[in-house]
Formats: sequence, structure tokens, C-alpha cells
Amino acid sequence: MSDNWWRGAAIYQVYVRSFADGDGDGTGDLTGVRSKLQYLADLGIDAIWFNPWYPSPMDDGGYDVSDYRDIEPVFGSLAEAEKLIEEAHGLGIRIIIDIVPNHCSDEHPWFRAALAAGPGSPERERFWFRDGVDGGPPNNWQSRFGGSAWTQAPDGQWFLHLYSSRQPDLNWTNPQVHTEFADILRFWFNRGVDGFRIDVADGLVKQDGLPDVDDPDGRLPYSDLDGVHEIYREWRKIADSYEDKRVFVGEMWLPDPQRFAMYLRPDELHSAFNFDFLSCPWDAKRLREVVDATRDAHAPVDAPATWVLSNHDVTRHVTRYGRADTSFSFADRQHKAPTDRQLGLRRARAAALLTLALPGGVYIYQGEELGLSEAEDLADEVRQDPVFRRTNGTDIGRDGCRVPLPWSGTESPYGFNTTGAAPWLPQPDDWSAATVAAQTGDEDSMLELYRSALRLRHAEPGLGDGPMTWLDVPEGVLAFARDDRFACVVNLSGAAVPMPPHTEVLLASGPLEGTDLPSDTAVWLRTHQAMGPSSS
Ligand code: NOJ
Repeated sequence: MSDNWWRGAAIYQVYVRSFADGDGDGTGDLTGVRSKLQYLADLGIDAIWFNPWYPSPMDDGGYDVSDYRDIEPVFGSLAEAEKLIEEAHGLGIRIIIDIVPNHCSDEHPWFRAALAAGPGSPERERFWFRDGVDGGPPNNWQSRFGGSAWTQAPDGQWFLHLYSSRQPDLNWTNPQVHTEFADILRFWFNRGVDGFRIDVADGLVKQDGLPDVDDPDGRLPYSDLDGVHEIYREWRKIADSYEDKRVFVGEMWLPDPQRFAMYLRPDELHSAFNFDFLSCPWDAKRLREVVDATRDAHAPVDAPATWVLSNHDVTRHVTRYGRADTSFSFADRQHKAPTDRQLGLRRARAAALLTLALPGGVYIYQGEELGLSEAEDLADEVRQDPVFRRTNGTDIGRDGCRVPLPWSGTESPYGFNTTGAAPWLPQPDDWSAATVAAQTGDEDSMLELYRSALRLRHAEPGLGDGPMTWLDVPEGVLAFARDDRFACVVNLSGAAVPMPPHTEVLLASGPLEGTDLPSDTAVWLRTHQAMGPSSS
């Protein structure tokens, strides 16, 4: 495997709770993942990113970690994780795990000790404990999950939590926090993990004095402060101390591409998720702008771009793309505008070919290869996301994209387990055609489209990381060459357009109309003659 494997890797995101349930208790686990490693190898992915697999009370799906050096017992054991890493490596699959350095669980021994030790204690210095002001919280910061970012301890002091009240923020001005996380990184690197996905990578440093937020739409005193870069320089040295390449991918939702790129300087993180691409509407002009802005921001720091359509925090893109407004924003998620599933699927198929042809790395969220929609009609009682709880349901939260996967059969649990135990979130009744078994061998299925595309991505020397050139095409169409033998054309306009001459179709996202490319369809082309670059 090449030393620069991550630059053009296709990375599959496993949300363990919902992937495959090996022990049949209704929750996914590592035994389940191990039983599907061959499926992932056959799909053609290069690496897996695991959402947090650590012991956790699961207040926020595992982003509330109570022990960073073990495995959640419902998921398995440390020994099993080690086995999984070895088996994946045997199949040529790298392993990236989540690290959650901004906050831990209120059940973490440090937080328990802090509560027990009381105000003014060194134990409280690992967190942000403050006295209140005028009977209220120390400042006006709001939790990203709704409500105040401060909760009162039984003795009256307040502690900061940018997320749920069971996720106290760690204090990165405390050297013990640095030492602890450096040690955790080594703990897992020594067990063979190839990289870390860094949760809330922009949030670790808080502005001195914890000032009030003046303008919620401006720079926030708890996001993207310059001090975070020192942390990633420390971390990069740790990764680089290993002989084979260990990497970081940052999770930052930042408005400014230039500030975003600062995290990707050569002595910091290797890559980061491209949420501008994920949030962009299905619109040729806007997508082209995002692709250009992404490439312009990444080039000076020589970092590969990444392309992301979905993850465990956002509405599944089949659903988004079937709506009148195809963009994503957290603020708008609660509007359950009607969606046209067939239209969404058609666009999602085209988007898959677009994404897998763009230069850089690509992330595939479990179930995206099956064309799953958002489960929008989950009953309030089954919803588990703290976002739903903390906003009293005004924001429906993220459970709808986290429903356990359908593997086989015609009714729930659709092969998610073999005991028939009810999955931790109910699966829709109409998933029998969406299962892996139902799609396998069906040339028109989303699964076979992903398999073919990933196979070609490996075989085509021009794909993965490398250059791209926009081609001259009518408005509403995106077309680019990756080398003088490969081009991708995506028609986002309302009408069919002629395909470039002297080309041969390698893969199409849907039926073609002779030599015309229908609306919301994409093709990968073998080019037999150099195609002229566009003027802009
Ligand atoms: C981002 C994660 O992706 C999300 O699932 C989580 O709730 C927050 N960070 C807080 O850890």
C-alpha cells in the first residue's frame, strides 16, 4: 500500500451502532463489523472511519466518552478491536477512529473527580468550572444542541458544555489534558490504527476570559482560535514519529476557506471534511464554485481535498436532493419539506459519479451505497438524539440518518441481526428492495453503481488525487477531465445534452438517450482525443 494512501482514499464511515449486529441484541457491534469486512473489501473502499467506539453512556451516540482506552462493552472488547484492525489490514483496509478531544462524558473519571473535589480544586481545572453571574450562568454561550452551554453542579458552580450537559468541555490550557491526549493517540497508534478523525477540531481552545458572544453569526469565542494550531502541531509530531503513514482528518464547519486551510498546513492535519460541498445545492454553477474554492484553498498547503455527501449528522442526501431546496444547513433541518425519492435517487446516483471522480479523498457514509433515504417518520418516543431532546423537538435531530442497515430479507431487522431482536431504532417497512442482498447483482442498483465506480476508481490512473481540468460545456452541466483519457460529465440542467464526441462510456449513473446525456445523469468517459479546457 502506498505511503500516500490517504490522499486519494475512498473512506467508508461505519456508525457501529447501526452497521451490523453480531450478537443479536439490537445494537451493532464489532463482531458485526468483522462479519462484513469482506463486503467492504468487495465494495472497493480503502479505509474505514469508525464513529466513537469507546465506553460511553451514549447520551450523544458515543461522542460522550467515559474511557478513551477501551471499547464500549455493548460493541465488544479491546481484544476484538485489535483483531478487527488486523483482519481489516489483511484485506488492505486501513482503520481511522474518532477522537473526541473537546469534551468527554460526565461519567469520565476526571469529571467525577472534579464534581467530588469541589470549587477551586485542581480536578476542576481540567474542565471549565466558573461561578455564576447574578444567579445565572457565567456567560451567554449557547449549546450547539440547544439551551445554555452551562449547567450547574450540585454545589452551585457552573460547568461549560458546548454540546449536551453530559459532555463537559475539557480545558486545553491545562497541560494534563495535552499529556493525556498525546498518550491516547499513542495507545491506538500502537494498536495499529492508521489515523484519527478529530471531532470538533476547531473548538478546543476558548477565548481568554470567556467573553459573551456578541454576534452569533460572527467569529465565536469558542471556535477557530489560533491556539488550536499548536495542539495539532503537537499531534502531528506524534503521528510522524511512526514509520508508516498515520493521518488525521479534522471535523471543522468553518465559513472561511482560508482559515479552514490553516489546519491543513504541512505540520498540522493531513485532511479535513469538505462540508461546503456537502451543504451545496444540486446546482452546476454553485457546485463548480465550491470545487474551485476548495481546490484554491487546498493548493497552497498541498493538502488533498475531500468530498463528502452525507454523514451521521446530516439528512441523507437522497432525501435532500429530492426537495425543492437541495442545500443542507443545520438551521433548516427541522423543515420536513416534501421529498421526491425517485428524483433524489437519480441525483444521488449522478452525485456519486461526480464525487468519486473529483481529485482527492472521498467519504462514503454507510447506507449511502444502498441509496437509503432519511427515515423521516420516526416516532418521538424512539428518537434518541440529544438535539431532539434539548430543543423540545423543534429540531428533529439526527436519528433519521442513523437507522440500522438492511442487509437481507423482507422485513425488519432485514439481516441486521439473526436473532430478530428489534434494532435500537426502528427500520422502515419498505426497505426490502434496499437490502444488500436485493441489490447485489442488480446492475441498475445503487450498490452495483458504487461497486463499479470504486473498481474503476482504482483501475484508472487519473482518478483519486491529482489534477483536473474543466471542459467547455453548456450551462447547467459540469464536465472535467482527470487526464487525457478520462472525463466526467454531469448534467444538472433540466434537459438532455449531447455528450462530447470521440468518447466511450465507461459508466453511467442512469440510462442514456442515444448520444445524449439526460437530465440529472452523470457519465464517466474514456476520451480518445484531447478535450479542450474551458476558458475559465
Ligand atoms: C460532531 C459529531 O459528528 C457529532 O455527532 C457530535 O454530536 C458532535 N460533534 C459533538 O461531539
